[in-house]
Amino acid sequence: MEQTFFMIKPDGVERRLIGEILHLIERRGFILERLELRCATPEILKQHYSHLADKPFFKDIEGYMMSGPILIGVISGPKVVKSWRNMMGATNPVDALPGTIRGDFAMAPIDGNIKNVVHGSDSVEAAQREIALWFGQSAVESNR
Ligand code: CDP
Ligand code: MG
Repeated sequence: MEQTFFMIKPDGVERRLIGEILHLIERRGFILERLELRCATPEILKQHYSHLADKPFFKDIEGYMMSGPILIGVISGPKVVKSWRNMMGATNPVDALPGTIRGDFAMAPIDGNIKNVVHGSDSVEAAQREIALWFGQSAVESNR
């Protein structure tokens, strides 16, 4: 069974969207394997977003991701990596289709800063790396 790593970002937690988003995950038939409310640190964000760490806007991403608690989790199910990415919608809320989480819940970035409510790994390899980073290697190996 495939696993992915997901996150409800600080704007999603602050706007009381946890229940609604977890409901979508359960309704889709995915299994919640891990769930934890956390605060991100600069160290973990640098690893989590290593592909963006040298971009000029990385400081803004860091500020956004540390603006409040986040809900992190692992979900499993058939094709869950791709399926959760489809459920999230495009990175920029203005491009995200209606019916997706970002399309329905995220707000257009009027100040240029994207706040897009959720995260999901973009490949099986990224999922394994991110699950190990946030929950430890044993969470990956518990893969059924
Ligand atoms: O989250 P996703 O995989 O869709 O996009 P990404 O390209 O991996 O970027 C990770 C996160 O960095 C995004 O979800 C945004 O929160 C942020 N980002 C941003 O604020 N501005 C950009 N031009 C690119 C990414
Ligand atoms: Mg990404």
